[in-house]
Amino acid sequence: METDIMLRVNGEERPLHVDTRTSLLDALRERLGVTSPKKGCDHGQCGACTVLLDGRRANSCLALAVAHDGAEVVTAEGLAAGEELHPVQRSFVDHDGFQCGYCTPGQVCSAVGMLAEAEAGWPSAATPRLTDHPVLDDAEIRERMSGNLCRCGAYVNIVAAVREAGGARR
Ligand code: FES
Ligand code: FES
Repeated sequence: METDIMLRVNGEERPLHVDTRTSLLDALRERLGVTSPKKGCDHGQCGACTVLLDGRRANSCLALAVAHDGAEVVTAEGLAAGEELHPVQRSFVDHDGFQCGYCTPGQVCSAVGMLAEAEAGWPSAATPRLTDHPVLDDAEIRERMSGNLCRCGAYVNIVAAVREAGGARR
């Protein structure tokens, strides 16, 4: 079965006609040519496909496009304001936190999402007391970024990049 939907991608309305089984990731990459979200595992396990979906980070490989008709989707290429990098992108550059092209767009989107979650006071599994506002120490950052994997072990600078973007200290 096919249907018409509309996604607002990086600020632009993108109408499309999709098979109802199409994932949001495939709609973005294969149908709309938005290639920063990557298909790593296609199983929700690696985070390479992470986008901001109505402001919250989501694995686009696990989302059906048709279930998000009308949604606002922001991918890594939509974060910058013209020539000016998003603070998280800037921080990744400054701290040499970039990984390969496969992992980095998802890492950046995930970092933007998780900083907003922490700012809103959402606890993670690493938050000592659920009633306290979370402090973004390294343990918190690692836990909150743990849904984004890579195979080469180049994680270490990401923690510093996220820490700086979040204005947090150890
Ligand atoms: S491709 Fe979506 S989590 Fe791996
Ligand atoms: S940085 Fe992408 S696999 Fe390691």
